[in-house]
Amino acid sequence: MRYMATTIASPLTLTERINRIEVSATMAVVAEAEKLRAGGADLVDYGAGEPHFATPQHIKDAAIAAINANFTKYTAVGGISDLKDAIRNRHAKDFGSDYKREETIASTGGKHALFNAMQVLVDHGDEVILPVPYWVSFKDIIQYGGGVPVYVATDEANGFKLSFEAVERAITSRTKAIVLNTPSNPSGAVMDPEEIEAIVRLAHGRGIYVLADECYVYLNFTGKRFSSGSLTDCKEHLIVLGSLSKTYAMTGWRMGYALSPAPITAAMNKLQSQSTSNPTSIVQKAAIAALNGPQECVHEMLVDYIKLREHLVAGLRDIPGITCAMPQGAFYAYPNVSHFFGKAGMNSAADVASKLLREAHVVVVPGEAFGTKEHIRLSYATSMKEVERGLERMKKFFGAL
Ligand SMILES: Cc1ncc(COP(=O)(O)O)c(C=O)c1O
Repeated sequence: MRYMATTIASPLTLTERINRIEVSATMAVVAEAEKLRAGGADLVDYGAGEPHFATPQHIKDAAIAAINANFTKYTAVGGISDLKDAIRNRHAKDFGSDYKREETIASTGGKHALFNAMQVLVDHGDEVILPVPYWVSFKDIIQYGGGVPVYVATDEANGFKLSFEAVERAITSRTKAIVLNTPSNPSGAVMDPEEIEAIVRLAHGRGIYVLADECYVYLNFTGKRFSSGSLTDCKEHLIVLGSLSKTYAMTGWRMGYALSPAPITAAMNKLQSQSTSNPTSIVQKAAIAALNGPQECVHEMLVDYIKLREHLVAGLRDIPGITCAMPQGAFYAYPNVSHFFGKAGMNSAADVASKLLREAHVVVVPGEAFGTKEHIRLSYATSMKEVERGLERMKKFFGAL
């Protein structure tokens, strides 16, 4: 009998693992802001987590040259050798690390490298220590792999810096990995090198992996730039995750990397070979230009971020009721707005963010997205003029409450 197609409606049955995660919480704000913008509203946008600078010209030129040279075919899954060398040599030069080609993989953005690393290391029921506030993707990427995030609080009075003692207390027999993200998104906290070293050594001694997300490692305002990759004797349990997105204003290009022991790198390569394959060929050439070329652009952007930070944080602290820890890196401020809870129907950071958007046309991300309820995140990767315009609006808004 011939097979007869039927049209019985079946319910949508998605996998259990896709139901373990959520669309990035920051998306809700973006969607609401987009609606207002479409209606003609003039918004001040502190929402976007990306540099406002254009990608430096020499990097763009390298990509254009790659297209013209027809460097547009598949490459090795983890990137061409020249790119791996550019990544590991830059890192060795800037931070004193010592990684070989087989310990280096290029991926389609730092988030992709993080995703791969988590998938190859974390199994069902494994615990992963995650400092709060956290970049929202950590939680979902851990959960997608079947892992259990174990949240560790940081002290706002101490600038949200993670302490060795808090991490040590959270370790159990099921701990598989510890996430370190310094400088931090969203708080801008920068851990002291001694504290990082103590945690990495503790983990190494206990056979626990450290996933060090160093996406903002070049945006460190303390003058003590540090990568855990410099702790070469702990390499066995260390995965350093990096990105060109923030360092070289290349968010849309999608280029990130991982430096990790060869067997972990090989496993990530295997996973990548069955998903995205190589990062875009022409972006690989651009990345080589970024990493091997002049580095002044990185410093120039850093100097600008420091000026923007000073202005924004001083302005926020001038608003009665707002307290704000001084961020030491990245490009975010994370002020506490709990003073306003109970006023004008606002009872959470989400309420504050929503009202601020609707009534003052200022876009911020509520702290709920990062695991705290009293804060809002403002990205100061924008022009000084925009920082000022936003401050004026916030002064009026909060002043009227
Ligand atoms: C802490 C952190 N890690 C990783 C990333 C990912 O960056 P990308 O995938 O653009 O390299 C981001 C981006 O916002 C981030 O804030």
